[in-house]
Amino acid sequence: MNFAHSAAPRIDVTRGMGTLFWRPDLATGIREIDLQHEELLANVSALHEAARTGNLGLAEGVLAYLERYTAEHFATEERVMWGAGYPDLDAHWSLHLSFATELARRKGEYATSRSRGSLLTDLGRWMERWLEEHLLGADAEMARFVRGRVSGAGTTAGCRPDGP
Ligand SMILES: [Fe+2]
Ligand SMILES: [Fe+2]
Repeated sequence: MNFAHSAAPRIDVTRGMGTLFWRPDLATGIREIDLQHEELLANVSALHEAARTGNLGLAEGVLAYLERYTAEHFATEERVMWGAGYPDLDAHWSLHLSFATELARRKGEYATSRSRGSLLTDLGRWMERWLEEHLLGADAEMARFVRGRVSGAGTTAGCRPDGP
């Protein structure tokens, strides 16, 4: 699936409350994954902005998109790791699962809450923290291995490294 053309909810995020924006040190050097990470961060910013302005309908749309998109993104990474024979695939998969589980828990809390705006803001902050830690930690570690396999043996399918 080409995520760059996905039907993401659109919002002006230039004045958003989010603090995590795409920056060079977040790059894994695997183009497909980096494009997906950029899209994720842009939509987390959109979630913040929608929550800030009280546009809960839009925020819910962005949240639903983020839920689908993270699942597709995680599947992409798992395919890349499997293709490269990454030895820590199970541990990385568990981190993805824990994200999905926590997101589902928070969505359930949101559904019955009377303070939905603040819950959405908290959710956006949690997502930012999780993503930053995951991109700089587990994803960077996985990418180092995958890039090494591709440049070393040239046998890895499913990824196109484009960085150092
Ligand atoms: Fe990722
Ligand atoms: Fe990951």
